[in-house]
Formats: sequence, structure tokens, C-alpha cells
Amino acid sequence: MKPKALSHVVFLVFIQSLPSADAAAASEVRQVYDVTGKKVLHNAPYYIGPVIWAKGGGIKLTNTKDNKKVCPFYVVQDPAEVNRGGHFNFLLNGRDSDEKYLLKSHALSIESGSPEGPCDKGSYWQIPYVKAKVPSNFITTGGSFERAVSCFQVMDYPKPTSPKVHSYMLQHCPSFCGAGPGGCFNVSLNLDKGVRVGYGGTAPFEFVFQKAK
Ligand SMILES: *[C@@H]1O[C@H](CO)[C@@H](O)[C@H](O)[C@H]1NC(C)=O
Repeated sequence: MKPKALSHVVFLVFIQSLPSADAAAASEVRQVYDVTGKKVLHNAPYYIGPVIWAKGGGIKLTNTKDNKKVCPFYVVQDPAEVNRGGHFNFLLNGRDSDEKYLLKSHALSIESGSPEGPCDKGSYWQIPYVKAKVPSNFITTGGSFERAVSCFQVMDYPKPTSPKVHSYMLQHCPSFCGAGPGGCFNVSLNLDKGVRVGYGGTAPFEFVFQKAK
């Protein structure tokens, strides 16, 4: 008799606590934190780089590869650990464009601030041919907001290097924003003639957010 009564009470408490576990709590668990533990702002400039800035520096754009000009630009890791790289704005897609904070598991586009030029129609990151093999699936600029080719999401890194900092991985999920290959592709770094270039691969790149001043 006793265990039965006890489970009844537990059940009631659970039901009653449901209405308060509302949208606020739901968005709390989807919050993204920077390396200092502060919530990452939506549509604000951040550096992104490895947890231990010893295996190279932050992510940046480059207009030169193999001593040749590339256009649109490539998204690469700065080889020097002292460099934080470039800063990028993460913009939520859909009806959440007025959110104050960035959310994980949410379709977004990444704005690089690269100047628009004759060969660079947009400044958003894109992977035009994610199902192609390296180097055709490298991340470049030239994308537009909220398109399949420029559709990404931030996810928790499954096995963080440090329990003290929030680290993340990026996924490219074309079908979340438009017509494109289904599923998600982890953003990886590929060492290509001494330059670690971002591409749509399998092994995710673990990174942290650092607010740009
Ligand atoms: C992406 O990375 C996660 C974590 O390492 C892994 O479990 C998953 O299989 C990867 N996805 C793909 C498509 O490779």
C-alpha cells in the first residue's frame, strides 16, 4: 500500500510542476555561453576558436591559398595561437530574429563581415556542395541569409575538453533552411598544405565563443 501511495504523490507533484516549466526554462537550456560563462548574444561579433588555444588560433577568413587569390574567401583557422582570428555574427533564422541571445539547436546563418566584391555576392558562410569531397566542400563566404547552403546550427560538443568551459560544435544542416541534402554535416577542419580549412565533414571542430570588443 505504502509504495503505491508514494508514487501517486510523485505523480501529482510532477503534473503540478509542468505549467511552470514553460518556454523560459526551455530557452534557458538552449542558451549558448561564451568562454567567460556569459550568455552569447544574438547577432553580435564573436571570435570562435579552440578550447586550448595551442593548436592554432581562432577562425578567420583568408583570400589567399596556395599563394593564389581565392574568391569567395575561405574560412580557416589562424595558424598562430596568439591570433584570435576574425569575428563573426551568428543570426538565428526564422521568426527568432529579435531574440536577445543565441540559441543552440536552431537554424542560423553566420555573417563574416567580408566586403562584398565582384566575386563575393554575400558575406555569409556557405558550403555550396556539402556532399562533394574535399576541397569542394570547404566553407567559403558568398552566401546569403537563411538559405540551404548557408544553414548552420550550434550544438554542445559531446565530450568537452574542459568541464569548466562551454564548448560547441557547428553543424551544417541545409534542409533546415531550404531545399538541400537532408541531415547535418559536422563542421570540421582539414589540414590542406599547412592551412586548416573549414569544411563539411564528420569529425567536429570543438570551439568556444569569445566576445569581440
Ligand atoms: C558529428 O559529430 C558527432 C560527435 O562527434 C558524431 O556523433 C556524429 O556521428 C557526427 N556526424 C556525422 C554525420 O559524422
